[in-house]
Amino acid sequence: MKDPLRDFDWSSLYDRYDAMCSRFNPEALHLRAIALRPPSDRDLYYHLADRIRMTHNKLSALSIDLYEAMLYWKLYSNPQALAKVVQPLCDSDIRAIQSGNLKRLFAGLPPHLDRNADAVVALVKQLGHHGVLGMKTATALPARTTFLHFLFPEVVPIFDKMVLKAVGRDEANANHNVGVLCEYLLHAWALADRYTAPLPGRWRETSIRLIDMALWVARGEDTCDKPPVREPVAKSWQRPGLRLPIKGASLSSTIIEERRGRDDSVACVFGVEGETMNREQILEFVNANPLCHLATCEGMQPRVRGMMLYRADGSGLIFHTGRGKALSRQLLANKQVEVCFNSQDTQVRVAGVAEIVEDMDLKQEIVEARPFLKPWVEQHGYDLLVVFRVTQCQAAVWTMATNFEPTQYRRL
Ligand SMILES: Cc1cc2nc3c(=O)[nH]c(=O)nc-3n(C[C@H](O)[C@H](O)[C@H](O)COP(=O)(O)O)c2cc1C
Repeated sequence: MKDPLRDFDWSSLYDRYDAMCSRFNPEALHLRAIALRPPSDRDLYYHLADRIRMTHNKLSALSIDLYEAMLYWKLYSNPQALAKVVQPLCDSDIRAIQSGNLKRLFAGLPPHLDRNADAVVALVKQLGHHGVLGMKTATALPARTTFLHFLFPEVVPIFDKMVLKAVGRDEANANHNVGVLCEYLLHAWALADRYTAPLPGRWRETSIRLIDMALWVARGEDTCDKPPVREPVAKSWQRPGLRLPIKGASLSSTIIEERRGRDDSVACVFGVEGETMNREQILEFVNANPLCHLATCEGMQPRVRGMMLYRADGSGLIFHTGRGKALSRQLLANKQVEVCFNSQDTQVRVAGVAEIVEDMDLKQEIVEARPFLKPWVEQHGYDLLVVFRVTQCQAAVWTMATNFEPTQYRRL
């Protein structure tokens, strides 16, 4: 393996590392376990390191909340992976099962770990035996080593694609390969001994973590092959936050064009003067910020709950829920709903009518796209999966710039 750190400027490590963390979002839902939100990637790292070390010293239990925050730290620069791995935890049943799995996994961990590659690899393999989300697949070596890094920060480096590229191992799936892990462990320990021992002792990180950060920076600044985190983000509402892939042709210009032919209101803008979005931008916004709150009425009593939009397109907003939930009963009694989406600086409210959709192809597509639904559907059948589409939508946009303007709803 290559050594890219020969002329590395250690004095600028923090600045260069921080510059690569532009997608970090202190407001992310997955950081709910942390009352005082850490403002940066590094602050979250320090926080996790302290709290996970306390749990390992048996000073407190490792909660699923803390594990979720760790997964966020590992995955936030890759929103698709983040959504796939962490989103299932929004389901309370899955969360409860995962909490039990995590406890069992934790109970089997050794109190100490030496720099012994066989012992580290055996432990990495052991982490796959408990069905813990993010670590259960055979290919989950990056997440497993991240978890072990927080427990044994002097010994276990984080094994992922980025650092492997930095050391010249950029063949496909190198980060899923236990043989490469073995080789990388020895290399990372050698680099730590070579470079970090003579450094002045101002660092909060262990030598292993310093090497990991330096490799990230070295690889990230390689202009031939920049990591995705450094790409500029085009729109203010796409700044840090969860972004899910837009499925199918939901936002295709075809759909927008089709509707344009039928309905003049596509030219309509939303929001008040100076701060407007057109329909396409609203659809883009809600697809980019799918975590939302959906309000229904139960008699005279409003009800509101967190939801994750499946897709918004020219036909409306598509959601799914469970037949046993109060939400389903409320929709049968009263179809009027309002949904509120927001990013850090923009809010979009969509009022409309919720129509239940009995479309098996769509249900299957949703279960395919949200694998956390699979075990539930396999157990209870598709009938309990309720899909609904909010139609006849009226949208209102808010930004701080228009804070005191009256809210205006316009046909979407
Ligand atoms: C971020 C987030 C996203 C959620 N997404 C959904 C969803 O898409 N569908 C769903 O049925 N429940 C979802 N939930 C869970 C519901 O909010 C939860 O089941 C709620 O208790 C339902 O209440 P109700 O049955 O009284 O309406 C989500 C929760 C959170 C926090």
